[in-house]
Amino acid sequence: MDRIRILGGVPLEGSIPIGGAKNAALPLMAASLLTSETLTLSNLPHLADISTMANLLAQHGVMLGLNGVDAQQGGFAGRVMDFRAEKIASTEAPYDLVRRMRASVLVLGPLVAREGVAKVSLPGGCAIGTRPVDLHLMALEQMGAEIELKEGYIYAKAPKGLKGARVAFPMVSVGATENTLMAASLADGETVIVNAAREPEVSDLAQCLVAMGAEIEGIGTGTLRIKGKPSLHGAQHAVVADRIETGSFAVAAAITRGRIELIGARRDTLEAVEKVLINAGVVLEDGPKGLIVSARENDLVGVDIMTEPYPGFPTDMQAQFMALMATVKGASMITETIFENRFMHVPELARMGAKVNVHGSSAIVRGSSNLSGAQVMATDLRASVSLVLAGLAAKGETTISRVYHLDRGYERLEEKLAGCGARIERLKE
Ligand code: EPZ
Repeated sequence: MDRIRILGGVPLEGSIPIGGAKNAALPLMAASLLTSETLTLSNLPHLADISTMANLLAQHGVMLGLNGVDAQQGGFAGRVMDFRAEKIASTEAPYDLVRRMRASVLVLGPLVAREGVAKVSLPGGCAIGTRPVDLHLMALEQMGAEIELKEGYIYAKAPKGLKGARVAFPMVSVGATENTLMAASLADGETVIVNAAREPEVSDLAQCLVAMGAEIEGIGTGTLRIKGKPSLHGAQHAVVADRIETGSFAVAAAITRGRIELIGARRDTLEAVEKVLINAGVVLEDGPKGLIVSARENDLVGVDIMTEPYPGFPTDMQAQFMALMATVKGASMITETIFENRFMHVPELARMGAKVNVHGSSAIVRGSSNLSGAQVMATDLRASVSLVLAGLAAKGETTISRVYHLDRGYERLEEKLAGCGARIERLKE
């Protein structure tokens, strides 16, 4: 398994291009199951999770084209890909594919909507939590699907098709909102989703569905109205910029007290993160090509955060922010309200000298500790990038093992950071 080695202490200076959002690309790819025509997605990031989803769709019968060339032969390397589900070859999403990536459950709504039947492996939990899918199933049942859980699989069927319904989620769920959005776009009648997730990735999916002929009102709000159609047609859609990648590199600039221009960043999707960084003393300004983040010689200070559904502070930025708070003056209280086990980066950051005390869903970080390099281990996607960020600031050498977690959500991370002066390399093992 590859490792990453960093010699920290260098203020990063330069620019980094921001890629398409992984968490938008995955549901967008699943949406290709809703039509027999071609859906062309551009600005697709090159990530392990994208390849996993492409492989899953291929076994459902989706023809994948790379810039118009049949990509069945080789890897899925293109930034622009065509997806065409002329016919659905299989309505089963097998365990060995689903267990590799929980977002595979996003094929459930489209398959039931298109074919009236689906057998999808229960995704199982992951390092950050049990990750149930009960809300996804509740919504489909309210739309008329019969759901049975057997031998680790979700058996769903709606032989007479799905019916529009009023779906009120007791808690905000990104994935459940996305599955319901896609199912509702082919249901008979109107569906109203109450307490819908408002994440930019959900809005990006809704906009793509509208381009495919769906009728959706309230995009970006907590109430979505979808008038079902008998079928959807093909479309072209560019994946929205990745706000979590943007936030992660903004922290790289701040934690090394450097200055980085984030090319193509969408500031309107980052307001809660920006507010926290500014309160900590980080300087954000619009540059010629994107958002410039700098913290040269600044005395940064501790800021409290609580993770919340959008537009609140994103849980996917919590670990990165904690690494920054370990290097500033003063204390920071970090409360994680979305996932039950998302502090696994704490013991690893502590090995680097961070002073963090966890009490239930809150962690107190006492800053201004000079982090020192150490051997650490990645445990999940965002925890691993927080260790990279800490390594960039730490004195001495940091090596991070199990970096396959990183490859799921960050494209060419070490190249992008090295391009800004970081002393970082991947040790192929
Ligand atoms: C999406 O996961 C993201 N993944 C996650 O990003 C992100 O952390 C999360 O949204 C929250 O923003 C993708 O988009 C592929 P949820 P999702 O359903 O949809 C509970 C990353 O690092 N819940 O909004 O699975 C759940 O346990 C990943 O890129 C139920 O109880 O998240 C959690 O506590 C990690 N029942 C809360 O809701 C359900 O049926 C929010 O989960 C569904 C969810």
